[in-house]
Amino acid sequence: MARITASVYTSHVPAIGAAMDLGKTHEPYWQPMFAGYDFSRQWLRDNTPDVILMVYNDHATAFSLDVIPTFALGTAAEYQPADEGWGPRPVPRVLGHPELASHIAQSVIQQDFDLTIVNKMDVDHGLTVPLSLMCGEKDPLKDAWPCPVIPLAVNVVQYPVPSGQRCLNLGRAIRKAVETFDQDLKVQIWGTGGMSHQLQGARAGLINKAWDNRFLDLLVENPVGLSQVPHIEYVREAGSEGIELVMWLIARGAMADVDQARPLPRVLHRFYHVPASNTAVGHLILENPA
Ligand code: DHB
Ligand code: FE
Repeated sequence: MARITASVYTSHVPAIGAAMDLGKTHEPYWQPMFAGYDFSRQWLRDNTPDVILMVYNDHATAFSLDVIPTFALGTAAEYQPADEGWGPRPVPRVLGHPELASHIAQSVIQQDFDLTIVNKMDVDHGLTVPLSLMCGEKDPLKDAWPCPVIPLAVNVVQYPVPSGQRCLNLGRAIRKAVETFDQDLKVQIWGTGGMSHQLQGARAGLINKAWDNRFLDLLVENPVGLSQVPHIEYVREAGSEGIELVMWLIARGAMADVDQARPLPRVLHRFYHVPASNTAVGHLILENPA
């Protein structure tokens, strides 16, 4: 049986990828932000899973206003880094896991979630920046990411976006799906995007440290309560792009304690840093009890 061993949560600011690609990580602006991931990189080397299920959002790169899937699961064998206007990031291609992804599609759709199945797409900073943050610099010609990645793209760009409740429930369904896969795989689920940021309009540059830290507290201690927060509160308190945080509830819903009267997951690492570009960087690693 496959099982979810841990969940990772992290922001995905594109400038973080650019800082890594252009060799700027030791500059004073960036150094404290990257220092928050030193623990995480070592932890991932020591605890490399067989597969990562990456909950992220596409930023009108693979999708557009032409087609807006709420939840899109990647079942392909590989995904290329997208060209977001400056050429593709110089990072390795992302290998998928078609067998587990197809099983998740089968199971989760039969649990009444309308997933869109995606057999071909490029992946943008929403997916590649979390990989870079957690894995460090990778040469696209010589290196590979540490394991296959199954992308789950969530629409948080064009309203209507899914509710926190729906995201938490999708996480629960994903855990059931993983636990009914007949290969013995260690799976991590990553929730990405956020924290507070607004990129446009009169409130551009908005950061809300108190709200972000309360979100981190509740994500660990009371995810069911957090799932009741309406999307208007994310927008009001965390800015128009702060709604990306709702994706973290999918990863949290896949952790064991959400349905079973088990202890809370262990907090292995927590980090918060402002600023990175226009965004507050938040990061957590939670481990399921063995
Ligand atoms: C920024 C943050 C994002 O999440 C994003 O998708 C694009 C830009 C930023 O802070 O610059
Ligand atoms: Fe984003």
